[in-house]
Amino acid sequence: MHINNAVVLVTGANRGIGRAFVAELLARGAAKIYAAARDASSIVDDPRVVPVALDITNADAVADAASFAADVNVLINNAGITTFAPLVGGNLDDIRREMETNYFGTLAMVRAFAPALATNGGGSILNVSSAAAWLGLEHSNGYGASKAAVWAMTNALRVELSGQNTQVTGLYMASTDTDMIAAFDMSKNTPQAVVIAALDGLEAGELEVLADDETRTVKATLSADPVTTYPQAVRHIHTQAG
Ligand SMILES: NC(=O)c1ccc[n+]([C@@H]2O[C@H](COP(=O)([O-])OP(=O)(O)OC[C@H]3O[C@@H](n4cnc5c(N)ncnc54)[C@H](OP(=O)(O)O)[C@@H]3O)[C@@H](O)[C@H]2O)c1
Repeated sequence: MHINNAVVLVTGANRGIGRAFVAELLARGAAKIYAAARDASSIVDDPRVVPVALDITNADAVADAASFAADVNVLINNAGITTFAPLVGGNLDDIRREMETNYFGTLAMVRAFAPALATNGGGSILNVSSAAAWLGLEHSNGYGASKAAVWAMTNALRVELSGQNTQVTGLYMASTDTDMIAAFDMSKNTPQAVVIAALDGLEAGELEVLADDETRTVKATLSADPVTTYPQAVRHIHTQAG
């Protein structure tokens, strides 16, 4: 999949990683970029960039976008939210909102754009998930569950869309310097580094892009015994067993 001359739609394109996607797509020679955002007035101003007002949780807006941008051959599902809610003590409405945006919003985009991708030769989908899909934390587990759902969806779409020749790639990263985690003082990679890794992977035909070392370490825990990954749980079980 070449970005040069591609027609791309990016969701959540007004800030953070989505905005960095638009800049890097321009640098790689994309012919046209539909830059979708709830507030399209803050989209980068460039002759190759077409601002699109789009809330991915709004079914009518998603359908309108799919008919307006029928020439798309790369769909980048970047839009997402976190409320940092834990699963037990957190507000259930927050947890539902995360699932509604990150999972159902992304799925709605895929379902709406799959026919256009087929018409345009198959093309590519890049779904932005997170290392949080693969690790339980003290907080943000509603978000993690929604990103795990995106991971599962991404795997399944490769099978469902193989007949129409659509490449489906998942992007995973740990901590990137955007508004989303601005409140946390920690080591972060840059949005630019993440999108370079993502688009390098997409162009190379990779099905999964792990954008940093922390993410590669977390992914490796999936094949480890959970006893190693969650020692605190083992302590509790042993205490209960007496
Ligand atoms: N930053 C990290 O450390 C990190 C790590 C792993 C994965 N990610 C993922 O990377 C993606 C981009 O996040 P970011 O760090 O750039 O976050 P961000 O700075 O908070 O930006 C999130 C973007 O998503 C958009 N968005 C949220 N809900 C939407 C909706 N219903 N419809 C359309 N757009 C919506 C936002 O638009 P508005 O301006 O309208 O709110 C904004 O453009 C997300 O999927 C996030 O989960 C981020």
